[in-house]
Amino acid sequence: MKINENYKNLNESYLFSTISRRVKDFKAAHPNADVISLGIGDVTLPVCPHVIDAMVTATYDLGAIETFHGYGDEQGYTFLRTAIAKYYAKKHVQIDQSEIFIGDGAKSDLGNILDIFSTDNIVLIPNPVYPVYVDTNLMAGRKIIFANGSIENNFLPMPDPAVHADIIYLCSPNNPTGAVYTHAQLKTWVNYAIANNAVILFDSAYEAFIHDKTLPTSIYQIPNAKKCAIEFCSLSKTAGFTGVRCGYTIVPNELGHLNKMWLRRQTTKFNGVSYIVQRGATAVFNNFSPCKKNIARYMENAKLISATLTKLGIWHTGGKNAPYIWLKCPNGMTSWQFFDYLLEKHNIVGTPGIGFGLDGYFRFTAFATRKNTIRALKRLES
Ligand code: MLT
Repeated sequence: MKINENYKNLNESYLFSTISRRVKDFKAAHPNADVISLGIGDVTLPVCPHVIDAMVTATYDLGAIETFHGYGDEQGYTFLRTAIAKYYAKKHVQIDQSEIFIGDGAKSDLGNILDIFSTDNIVLIPNPVYPVYVDTNLMAGRKIIFANGSIENNFLPMPDPAVHADIIYLCSPNNPTGAVYTHAQLKTWVNYAIANNAVILFDSAYEAFIHDKTLPTSIYQIPNAKKCAIEFCSLSKTAGFTGVRCGYTIVPNELGHLNKMWLRRQTTKFNGVSYIVQRGATAVFNNFSPCKKNIARYMENAKLISATLTKLGIWHTGGKNAPYIWLKCPNGMTSWQFFDYLLEKHNIVGTPGIGFGLDGYFRFTAFATRKNTIRALKRLES
């Protein structure tokens, strides 16, 4: 037996596992500490009542012979794919049902999609970004190059025409910076991808948080994007599904073999998302406004966090069209130093920027409860 040697190039554990271990150790040593998490982007508001109702009804469907469901349709049930296609139609994007694949969340599909690409490809990843893109490519031993985000480019790096890439990751709104590409910027990326015969893997997990109507919420709002882009989205943050698990991936038919290859991959290695969850997800798309209210509530948290950081004179960005606030660690601290400082002195958990690829920065999430957000901010102010 030979192991996959590429795993030796990974950090010992996944970013959020490392954080949770450090918090656990801290709590074990300080059992009375009242720790508040503004760390992992995990939702706190309950799933909307109409979505729960749909899942309860679906549960009873499984208990009656007339409505029982066994294995589902390969790409996901038609009722859910129809609802998603309608959601895109409202964005003026036409998606055919054959292009939609239901999965258990964006993270799995973003990693699994790599099965259909050769390990010879050069991968271009913006930095800082969601660590899953780097880790999954390290596992496969692909060559990775970076497009660096900075204060100067508003954390929205653009392609260098002199540099070739085959697989390009874009995350907009970006996790962790909250930066959102404009139509013009995405057009430049689409043109670059087409010129390089490359594919864009577009992570739109936070699209529902985009408030500014002038900003694109899908890469397919950009002309020709269907010729070069696969889009990944999730209901985790949009509908409070971090524990329920449902997402979808769009592989346009214009991408030729890729659609059929992904179908082949999924039908071989994946048996779909449960009927109950797909009924719940359908309810989300068929009546979006209750979910929107929850999103608005999180975005009020983001405003509060931003206001406190402004008061404290701490440079930060994000939080306007995304549930994340990205800040510069004060007093020249490294991101793990700031993590320790916040945890030990204020019992607040955040996410170190180095975990996303950039030291000296830090991320707060707006997903905590209102009460805990306010309590954490009071501690910071004091
Ligand atoms: C995050 O905090 O970045 C996300 O919750 C992680 C994820 O969605 O997997």
